[in-house]
Amino acid sequence: MSRPAPSLLLVALLTALGVAGVALPAQSNASPAVAASSPREHLLMDSGWRFAFGHPSDPQKDFDHATSYFSYLTKAGYGDGPAAEKFDDSAWRQLDLPHDWAVEAPFDNRGSHSHGYKAIGRNFPERSVGWYRKTFTVPATDLGRRIGIEFDGVFRESVVWINGFYLGRQPSGYTGFRYDLTDYLNYGGENVISVRADVTLEEGWFYEGAGIYRHVWLNKTAPLHVAPYGTFVTTEVQNESAMVTVRTTLINEGSTAARFDIDQEIFSASGQAIATESVKASALAAGVGAEYSSVLKVANPQLWSLESPTLHRLVTTIRSGGTLVDRYETTFGIRTVRFDPNEGFFLNDRHVLLKGTNNHQDHAGVGTAVPDALQDFRIARLKEMGVNAYRCSHHPPAPELLEACDRLGMLVIDENRLMGPSPEQLNQLEQMILRDRNHPSVILWSLGNEEWAIEGNLKGARITATMTAFAQRLDPTRRSTVAISGGWGGTSTTVDVVGYNYINQADPDKQHAKFPQQPGVGTEETTTQGTRGIYFDDRPNAHLSPQPKGDSGGNCEKGWQYYAARPFLAGLFFWTGFDSRGESTPFSFPAVSSQFGLMDSCGFPKDSYYFLQSWWTDQPVLHLFPHWNWPGKEGQPINVWCYSNCDEVELMLNGQTLGKKIVPRNSHLEWNVPYQPGALEARGFRGGKQTETTRVETTGAPTKIILTPDRAKISANGEDISVVTIQVVDAAGHTVPTADNLVTFELEGPGHLLGVGNGDPVSHEPDRFVAALQLLLVENWRGRIVPAGTAAPSASESQLTLPQLANWQAPLPKAGEIYDLSASFSLGTLPADGQLHLHLPSLGLKTTVWLNGHELARDLDTSHTGPIIALEAKQLVDGVNRVQLIVAPFTESPKHLPELTRLGVVQIRTPTPVWQRQVFNGYAQVLVQAEKTSGSIRLTTHAKNLPSASVSLTAAPAAARPSVP
Ligand code: GAL
Repeated sequence: MSRPAPSLLLVALLTALGVAGVALPAQSNASPAVAASSPREHLLMDSGWRFAFGHPSDPQKDFDHATSYFSYLTKAGYGDGPAAEKFDDSAWRQLDLPHDWAVEAPFDNRGSHSHGYKAIGRNFPERSVGWYRKTFTVPATDLGRRIGIEFDGVFRESVVWINGFYLGRQPSGYTGFRYDLTDYLNYGGENVISVRADVTLEEGWFYEGAGIYRHVWLNKTAPLHVAPYGTFVTTEVQNESAMVTVRTTLINEGSTAARFDIDQEIFSASGQAIATESVKASALAAGVGAEYSSVLKVANPQLWSLESPTLHRLVTTIRSGGTLVDRYETTFGIRTVRFDPNEGFFLNDRHVLLKGTNNHQDHAGVGTAVPDALQDFRIARLKEMGVNAYRCSHHPPAPELLEACDRLGMLVIDENRLMGPSPEQLNQLEQMILRDRNHPSVILWSLGNEEWAIEGNLKGARITATMTAFAQRLDPTRRSTVAISGGWGGTSTTVDVVGYNYINQADPDKQHAKFPQQPGVGTEETTTQGTRGIYFDDRPNAHLSPQPKGDSGGNCEKGWQYYAARPFLAGLFFWTGFDSRGESTPFSFPAVSSQFGLMDSCGFPKDSYYFLQSWWTDQPVLHLFPHWNWPGKEGQPINVWCYSNCDEVELMLNGQTLGKKIVPRNSHLEWNVPYQPGALEARGFRGGKQTETTRVETTGAPTKIILTPDRAKISANGEDISVVTIQVVDAAGHTVPTADNLVTFELEGPGHLLGVGNGDPVSHEPDRFVAALQLLLVENWRGRIVPAGTAAPSASESQLTLPQLANWQAPLPKAGEIYDLSASFSLGTLPADGQLHLHLPSLGLKTTVWLNGHELARDLDTSHTGPIIALEAKQLVDGVNRVQLIVAPFTESPKHLPELTRLGVVQIRTPTPVWQRQVFNGYAQVLVQAEKTSGSIRLTTHAKNLPSASVSLTAAPAAARPSVP
């Protein structure tokens, strides 16, 4: 098949850390604890997190975090509040990642327009800081390995602690980051990661979500290992072979020098080893990193292309003293990319016109917490429309989005968030490029979007030049763009590939004439706004019919015709593929979503989807709109449109011809049809022959719900999802285009409901239904030492009111003493179905608990988290409730001494409401997620006056990804 590369290049680059290539002892420092079979572990750390809201400015509501005299910034290990190792989070909500708390928040007109009026952010401090904690065990056998935590993205301003030790902060909500935990861990014991995220500030003018909305990983390696993002694979294709250059950065984090061999092996898509190369007998001193380079030759390579997105796997193996110390896999594609100033874009030296869409990252039901399978769903929907390119507007995407694009064949403009040459800004660009540069789908780096303060001036020219050169150093194989929105003569003079945002604010012909060596691409072009299934504007309800002239000055047709006519441009990216939350231009509250999508937020096509499908694919398209349910408009003219790539189309109404027309290329057909109920039919002709028909019929009333999963068989791996379409139809089986039935959902079997949506840009219905948790602080602690043998408070004592307790002292526990402690919590109106639990700290060897004079529990043992006691309505009173504890005796070191003011919480849980959603213009969507148990999942819908309907999904046995329990 293939021959090993004839030549081997070994380049040991010195890193900033020190000097590589020193004289070394023969022995490796690989830890014996590292199992030869799996020296590296990459463990998903998404499950079993605890979550609660803190507060950006009220320390008491932020669990007294950072109020200690010595804070976490003062002394190592002094994380307090939820950052402390021993903090009791037992009353907090349990959840799995990814999690977006914004999507669960209500809508509120005090919320930000950008973020879709969700009640988070500056005006909602009580919902703007989220704390996450995860307790996990590290086995004693891990001692000697390097262990690190990796976050793919936390929105935003995250701060992370391990076991009370501060690790660092990451302002960006989009940049992945990691911390080394090795020195802080309790080996053979429990460890706790605490994360505080603060969404008071926004980074974008679009919906951004909130919290740990991407995956978290725990990585374990030997001390000598491939560095994070430590491989860079580039490919050159020459005649019948490809030269694959592999640059591998190794780092020796051991305390002694290491000697090692590196083997690089390339596997084809079918798993065959097709090229191999080695770097023998290298050495790295302790604490040193270096880059090694090999060139591997692949004969007759299967290239990565849009039609056949073949992926290869590079396996990098590090052996030290004969022992395997690391095995690192890199997925890549063999392909070349090139932008030409006169001819546009070339993939593998073949011209490809970029037929692109811009997209934000959120989807109906889940917001930004998009499961991996949903990334595939979204990319597949775009491909069906004929889209071949995706711009990640306006920030680096989740890694799984790029993996989906690699696998399914979609070209990508990968975009940096904020332009600037400062270390923080360049670091964000660097992290994006290092993370993403092995993805064959990525063809262009975007340094920024519409930077109004700089794009038209000298500063913009300078900053763009600095960032372009920086990107070029990190990745010489790709060029950079900036999306420009009308400020010409700054950024546009120094950018590699000029990005035009909207031809109504650019003159690509003029720019091309002035900068003939500069390639260009339409980074944004308007689709025109519109609401799926709406054909007459209903502005009070923020529902728009397809606009002849979109908010940005054109429509799909205008933009496509412009770019289709200019071969020097590489193509264009419509704004947008999918509707997204936020930026509900031209409406404000109650509108909550943007309506620029060719599809709605669920991925249900709008009409313009078919316009592009006609001209962007080879498949036959014949699409007629609007729907034909217009009671009350009888006799009135209705403007009927047809999108088609047929040669000619004839329109019929109730069997009568309304004329046959030639379809103008890259355009559409129109008829004015006096409305009468019945059937509109379009007949498509190719080469003079009728080849297809499509009908739009007046429907009857809804009679039935139909449930259609995108995949009826999913993997029982705890992550996979099925995207189920809910459709309301009439007796003849036609979707009722105005149906708005309220549908409730029930799920049985090993799965759960993850989210619901319907694409209505003004819907304020919840996307997720979760049990509401309220946490009440048990406060006003008072206590006194009581004689040995005291087992209960006296009857009179338990009646004491708070003022009467005022002369009791604040508890100053002394180990060995027996204490009578009193505290209180205030109850407002209880939710009828609320369940209450009292979470107490573990204070003594034996603790007995009373509430309002009722004995709740006797002789409770000490435990890590302390007792959790269910409370009954008859034990509770409106207003102030008295908790009393006899602690016999105080243990030597009560676990919460530093937080004696906040001992105990009452958790009020309201059960999960029934999941429901209205269908919008006939459709809704439900996301069903598999658990880790295989079996049959049954989704059933109920709606008033309609029979219940259901669908069965199979959760097939599948291995879950290696994960941290
Ligand atoms: C562009 C901008 C996009 C979006 C769009 C809405 O100017 O780059 O992010 O805001 O306008 O029309």
